Amino acid sequence: MPWDYLLLRFVRRRLPSRLVHALLRRGWVLRPGLETRSPEEAVARYEALLQAHGRSWQGQRVFILGYGGYLGVAAELLHRGAAHVVLCDPYAQPDPRRNARLASQARYASFFHPHTHQPRAAYMSIWHEDVRALAQRRALQPVDVVLSTSVYEHLDDVEGITRALARLTKPQGIHIHFIDLRDHFFRYPFEMLTFSEQTWRRWLNPTSNLNRLRLPDYARVFRAHFAQVNIQVLARDLAAFRKVKPRIRPEFLTGDDEVDAVTHIVVVAQKPRPDAPAL
Ligand SMILES: C[S@@+](CC[C@H](N)C(=O)[O-])C[C@H]1O[C@@H](n2cnc3c(N)ncnc32)[C@H](O)[C@@H]1O
Repeated sequence: MPWDYLLLRFVRRRLPSRLVHALLRRGWVLRPGLETRSPEEAVARYEALLQAHGRSWQGQRVFILGYGGYLGVAAELLHRGAAHVVLCDPYAQPDPRRNARLASQARYASFFHPHTHQPRAAYMSIWHEDVRALAQRRALQPVDVVLSTSVYEHLDDVEGITRALARLTKPQGIHIHFIDLRDHFFRYPFEMLTFSEQTWRRWLNPTSNLNRLRLPDYARVFRAHFAQVNIQVLARDLAAFRKVKPRIRPEFLTGDDEVDAVTHIVVVAQKPRPDAPAL
């Protein structure tokens, strides 16, 4: 077992969340997600997939799960024709400086109040709350498009959150979720799979939570809550997987290396089943 892995995981678990947010904001040591680093690239990637499914967000209500505090993706979606963007993230630390810079760009200015740089309610609604609670008290109008990048692997209740999202989605709605299945100590992408649940949760799991779910887990959850689900494998790392395979716990293995070595997926889900029972 690599000693630097254990040391880093041990330390990372104990980092105060204010320090984690500061590091993420500056991109020091910890790397923020694509939506935060490069919103235009993230939006272009969503758009290409939607088009491939014959869909678009023109004039529609778009929901972003886990927006991370920066409004770049929301502004870009509005600029490209979305009618309204709902942002939901119970742990996000808004980034006022970067958001103010965004608001002062000519192409986004109409989506923000000119003096306060706050988003206009007609265009964006921001919820720092759990989507399960929002769905429960029917706080949101149904949405057409649900998007996320590098969020699902951090969720503590993937099934409950997917059920809540399915209930929020219009019958003709569509979801796109980019999911990174790697250990986020990227040099050792499968190392986290060598620990028992108890050891992982007690000693090593970072405060951002890595749920360690695998491709078949996501397939099962999305198929329970949507009638049409397409999961595309974007990357796998067979070499790294085979190095650590003898130490990986059996609950993370299907016996098919092509499945078990998958590192990135995108889930496209349609036809929500709002009344599906819990798994
Ligand atoms: C790695 S960051 C990605 C942020 C952003 N999507 C990006 O690509 O830059 C993961 C985000 O998921 C959010 N998150 C974690 N659990 C969540 C939940 N239950 N509901 C919504 N967001 C959640 C975190 O607060 C964090 O902002």
